[in-house]
Amino acid sequence: MTDETWMETELAQLRAQGLERQLQVMPDAGGVLMLDGRRVLNFSSNDYLGLARAPAVLEAAAAALRCWGAGATASRLVVGTLPCHAELETRLAQFKGYAAALVFGSGYLANVGAVSALVGRHDRVLADKLAHASLLDGATLSRAAIHRFQHNDVDHLLRLLRQKPASARDLIITESVFSMDGDLAPLRDIARVAQEQGAMLLVDEAHATGVWGPGGTGLIGELRLQQAVSVAMGTLSKALGAYGGFIAGSETLKRWLVNRARPFIFSTGLPPPCVGAVLGALDVLKKNPGMGADLLRRADAFRQRLQASGFNTGSSVSQIVPVIIGDNQKMLAFARRLRDHGILAAAIRPPTVPAGTARLRLSVTLEHTCEDLNRAAEILTNTAREECLL
Ligand SMILES: Cc1ncc(COP(=O)(O)O)c(C=O)c1O
Repeated sequence: MTDETWMETELAQLRAQGLERQLQVMPDAGGVLMLDGRRVLNFSSNDYLGLARAPAVLEAAAAALRCWGAGATASRLVVGTLPCHAELETRLAQFKGYAAALVFGSGYLANVGAVSALVGRHDRVLADKLAHASLLDGATLSRAAIHRFQHNDVDHLLRLLRQKPASARDLIITESVFSMDGDLAPLRDIARVAQEQGAMLLVDEAHATGVWGPGGTGLIGELRLQQAVSVAMGTLSKALGAYGGFIAGSETLKRWLVNRARPFIFSTGLPPPCVGAVLGALDVLKKNPGMGADLLRRADAFRQRLQASGFNTGSSVSQIVPVIIGDNQKMLAFARRLRDHGILAAAIRPPTVPAGTARLRLSVTLEHTCEDLNRAAEILTNTAREECLL
């Protein structure tokens, strides 16, 4: 038995700061749950369109399971590329408006794989200050120099781009809809400076895919920036309701990643039921192209109610609505009280968000009715007043 005292000591320090995280087994998934015998509104799920258990998606997953089995049995480059993988990549490329797409084991792996394949030790990564951990982990793995620009600050980005050593390649990384703030990147401006300065641009559309843009194609699609954004990342695990991630881009980019993205090369292909589920989700979206717009309207009304009560929702304009509290302990106490009142919301603390900005992250989904959202806004307001937060 190894000595684990150091772990206990450090865990106690985390606990004292209100930062120790613990796993919690949920009885069920979905926007509305039964918890301890009562109806609870779940605002922590990223299943924005409620597709994870939609009958058409389940049927497509089951059909793929019956046809191709539970697992891909090997890495994609060995014998793990099945017809369903090829079909999904063709569909994702069309959906996003790119020539090609490559599916990875998860969104995390897609980011780690793409970033670490595109730059090396003599290159630079210019990352938005709030870029997701998976993008930064890819940058660390690449051994490129990492420069962070202030959140959504294109002038700062431009100043950094102008300092490029002649021999280096630059890769700009940002999200289109930010995961913890629900705000949008100034994509047009970022794409313009990327083109002017000859930098590659990777945009993470984890929270935009399925929700933003025509038919849920994402913010790149909404702004028609496919030519200017060379690398478009998306996940299959949020609005598309299943699991996996992908990169969309040119045929050349795809061939490069197939040869150089280590999480793609050294890991088993995505299980066929996941592939089938996503094909089913894309069919649902094709038949119902207004789902994302409907969700954004509901989220907008909800955010306005919260703002009218005096909550700080930051610069959110999307289906992700933060309620910024600041102090870790106060925020944890608030989240506990809300749970007692039938509202489940993720308590997000540093290091996921900057120190002093602990928040509830509320994800609005199509499983929440307008009545659910009105009720939730009322409970949040009353509970915050009781806790002296408003
Ligand atoms: C912005 C962003 N990128 C990437 C990921 C990783 O995606 P996945 O959960 O599919 O691994 C997430 C998920 O937390 C995310 O929020």
